[in-house]
Amino acid sequence: MANQRGSILLVDDEEKILKALGRALRDAGHEVTETSSPRQAQRLLAERTFDLFIVDNVMPEIGGLDLIREYVATPPDGRGSTPEERPQILMMTAHATVESAIEAMKLGALDYLQKPFEIDELLVVVRRALDHQRLRTEYRYLLSERDEQFGHYGIIGRSRGMEEVIRRAELVAETKSTVLITGETGTGKELVARAIHDRSAQREMPLIKVNCAAIPETLLESELFGHVRGAFTGAATTKKGKFALADGGSIFLDEIGTMNPALQSKLLRVLQEREIEPLGSERTEKVDLRVIAATNRDLRQMVGDGKFQEDLYYRLNVIPIEIPPLRERRDDIPALAEHFIRKHAKRIGRRIERMEDTVLAGLQQYDWPGNVRELENTIERAVVLSQGPVITARSVSVFGSVAPQASGLPSLKLRQNIEWVERETIRRALESAGGVKKDAAEMMGISQRALSYYLAKYRID
Ligand SMILES: Nc1ncnc2c1ncn2[C@@H]1O[C@H](COP(=O)(O)OP(=O)(O)OP(=O)(O)O)[C@@H](O)[C@H]1O
Ligand SMILES: [Mg+2]
Repeated sequence: MANQRGSILLVDDEEKILKALGRALRDAGHEVTETSSPRQAQRLLAERTFDLFIVDNVMPEIGGLDLIREYVATPPDGRGSTPEERPQILMMTAHATVESAIEAMKLGALDYLQKPFEIDELLVVVRRALDHQRLRTEYRYLLSERDEQFGHYGIIGRSRGMEEVIRRAELVAETKSTVLITGETGTGKELVARAIHDRSAQREMPLIKVNCAAIPETLLESELFGHVRGAFTGAATTKKGKFALADGGSIFLDEIGTMNPALQSKLLRVLQEREIEPLGSERTEKVDLRVIAATNRDLRQMVGDGKFQEDLYYRLNVIPIEIPPLRERRDDIPALAEHFIRKHAKRIGRRIERMEDTVLAGLQQYDWPGNVRELENTIERAVVLSQGPVITARSVSVFGSVAPQASGLPSLKLRQNIEWVERETIRRALESAGGVKKDAAEMMGISQRALSYYLAKYRID
């Protein structure tokens, strides 16, 4: 492990020891603040941040243990001294009563040193403490980053449609109700399923995912319900099913619309009776889990067509969450685009500052049949292909710019392209005219009234 250097607060009432230890730590490259006064130590702890706090146990004014106790009991203030932000604590004690050492560690001290100790021993313990502190800092950083980026459990988008999705997800998370999430491909069904689980009281328990479309029909049943040895040819051992694995937590049944009728009946039974029967087993087993199902098909329609069992549909559809397609919530596109730019720029270590306005306008006009997934893929490619800190239309493939002759057109849709060209022309004319509408209209060869019409149409002002 790397040689950690850190800032250390050292407290010992015996000046000679204090000086000797301070020198040794400094020689090892650490930055040491030393004091023989526990009162002074208290002030320093309140005023500054240290990586490590080394304190003697027996001191006249205030003992080390009391100092630690008081310090950890101080409520986090504006400057923040939540447990994660505190320095690591080491206690030194000559009167090594195991109790006081254990007491100190219960209060959050990392370790203790029994006097007399060798300098080398001190340096080893100090290094370990600093390693701990570094991990803690990194962990805190990751957490804060996650919170920042994934404010709403990773769900970006504050359009009305998404606010409603999030509101329902939060409500349902508190219950153990079955949830059916519907939406076109790439709208974020899995993301919402995870958010529900992560916010539920069962979040410490597993969330088991089963993609019903990806597993061959013949295997799906044993995958879900498990089997006992010899249940069928090839069942050499007993195997737990996904329902059993999800017991206590949630099971996410993705692409539920592809389940065959026989399995639909078995699933209905799980939902009604809360029990499963492994293949080849005589016994049923109770399970306590939440079912989150998702589909991009129209289950109601499938019920009508006799392809999906009606009872099961109603059992699943207790709390429906419908995620709108991206083209119906274009307001979300800028935030999503920015999120994906940051994500992929960071991943490949590229500095991307922004994208050209026209690119964003184009992204907002495109219809996104593949929804958020397609948007993310598009941005990822653009980030990889971009040659500077600004993403230009050339690197965005939905504009057809992979074939350069289609330079900069937002799509292959005539209407969309025409609108884009209109908007773009107006923008540039206004820019050249320094915002003077009369001049801009003249440049474009249209009347001022026509310009007013376009400005209103495209909400430019
Ligand atoms: N609102 C959102 N905020 C951030 N990322 C999102 C959002 N919606 C979707 N994504 C991302 O888009 C990708 C596709 O989402 P997801 O897999 O949840 O879609 P899906 O609805 O399950 O699609 P499919 O029906 O094809 O399985 C994922 O990488 C997901 O993280
Ligand atoms: Mg999915």
